[in-house]
Amino acid sequence: MPVPKNVTVAVGTLTRPGTVVILDFGAQYAQLIARRVREASVYSEILPYDTPWEEIRRREPAAIILSGGPESTLGADALGVDTRIYESGLPILGICYGLQLMARDLGGKLAPLAHREYGPATLVVDARESPLLGKVPAESRAWMSHGDSVIGVPPGFHTLAHTERCLVAAMGDERRRMYAVQFHPEVFHTDAGRKVFENFLHEIARIPPDWKMESFVDRSVAEIRERVGSAQVICALSGGVDSAVAATLVSRAIGRQLTCIFVDHGLLRKNEARDVVAAFRDLLHLNVVHVDASKRFLTRLDGIVDPEEKRIRIGHEFIAVFEEEAAKIPDVKFLVQGTLYPDVIESKTPLSKAGHKIKSHHNVGGLPEDMQLDLIEPLRLLFKDEVRAVGRVLGLPAAIVERQPFPGPGLAVRVLGAVDEARLNVVREADFIVTSEIEAATLDPRPWQYFAVLTPLRSVGVMGDGRTYANLVAVRAIVSEDGMTADWARFPHELLERISSRIVNEVPEVNRVVYDITSKPPATVEWE
Ligand code: XMP
Repeated sequence: MPVPKNVTVAVGTLTRPGTVVILDFGAQYAQLIARRVREASVYSEILPYDTPWEEIRRREPAAIILSGGPESTLGADALGVDTRIYESGLPILGICYGLQLMARDLGGKLAPLAHREYGPATLVVDARESPLLGKVPAESRAWMSHGDSVIGVPPGFHTLAHTERCLVAAMGDERRRMYAVQFHPEVFHTDAGRKVFENFLHEIARIPPDWKMESFVDRSVAEIRERVGSAQVICALSGGVDSAVAATLVSRAIGRQLTCIFVDHGLLRKNEARDVVAAFRDLLHLNVVHVDASKRFLTRLDGIVDPEEKRIRIGHEFIAVFEEEAAKIPDVKFLVQGTLYPDVIESKTPLSKAGHKIKSHHNVGGLPEDMQLDLIEPLRLLFKDEVRAVGRVLGLPAAIVERQPFPGPGLAVRVLGAVDEARLNVVREADFIVTSEIEAATLDPRPWQYFAVLTPLRSVGVMGDGRTYANLVAVRAIVSEDGMTADWARFPHELLERISSRIVNEVPEVNRVVYDITSKPPATVEWE
């Protein structure tokens, strides 16, 4: 691949093979791109779209990807990049908004479409010899979503593909290794998506497919060590796989400088507090402080019905407990949290400036301003399946690694309406039955998450000779790849029957069980 003379030096000195920087123009595009890049065994980092070149360069990227985004490049206040990236000599791939931005910045022509092109289209490749579209079929299905279109490619570029309604569905400047696609190669519905990424990463940018979870662990351990120095660190252990992996990773880096605080908020599943403490203390030999704060949390939740209010109160109380515990350990500077990328997106942090807030996840969104602890979120850019892979690399037992996700606010968001000890116990018992039955069954695919929800409804039933008027429990079970979207699990009726009859027989407060058959979207996974 010929590289212009004036940038050869820059490429040679700036790049260390491996990292791809994805500049994030919003919403859920960038994280899907990150996922696809990592599936091609290349390490990627997502940075906000307006990251200055100095910051990007510090990562020593081997290539840059500009993500899609919901905006138009034609507006006066359109989001832009630090245009020095174009002079860096690095290979660049623009996707959707990224294509339009490259067209705008590099001297192409754009026009608004009369009707937005949205959904599947037939991608027709015009330049099959192009390194980007090599081995892509002459025609394939591609997912489009755009309101503007490139009508003239910038100097040096050629049109590589089109669709019926889009003149420039892909363009490239082979000499400068700059490419862009109007379609979304990151979405599942684009048949050639994977190939486009592989071509860009391995053929054009020449990045070998050698990024593995082991490399992530090594990199994180080194980074954490450097950042923490000799300070003390506390970790929020919740019992879930995320905080378990985060804690183990940090402890791998700094050993006994880490104190894990297990806040038992009294909203955990049956036997969970006991099991968690045993696993971490006895098995993983972490330094664990068990704080029984259940009374405090229940008092704070007393009479609270609104889901957001519950989440916010639990979040605040959590932080309050941390602050108190942190104050007991001298020289504590950092707090570890097991935040994952989907939490980051859905809670709209500055990392993705165009997300929309759906729920306040109690473990994301920052700490009160007066808190003196800095956050360490080693899993912030990972998806759940990647976190599990990291857990396996770290040698965590399967019982922890395969654990289904559990929301930070715990059973408080699974007892709809006001939360009290008695109702928590009802949902705990029902949940225990749901969990044990599903775990005992052979299911394909394995559900991603499954649990019981206690509704605020009561209904009439008959048991023995008597009329009952008791609680309604809903069973929720989903299949999902990452929790961002989900479908309800198609369980065998016999399994549902066993769950239902065990619940009404073994939990006296419940006389009716329903199964939730809603996907996400439009519903969310949790009911609150
Ligand atoms: P939703 O209900 O938003 O859930 O569709 C998506 C995934 O996130 C989990 N979830 C949470 N996880 N803190 C967490 O750590 C939270 O506050 C929280 N709320 C929901 C949920 O269980 C599902 O896996």
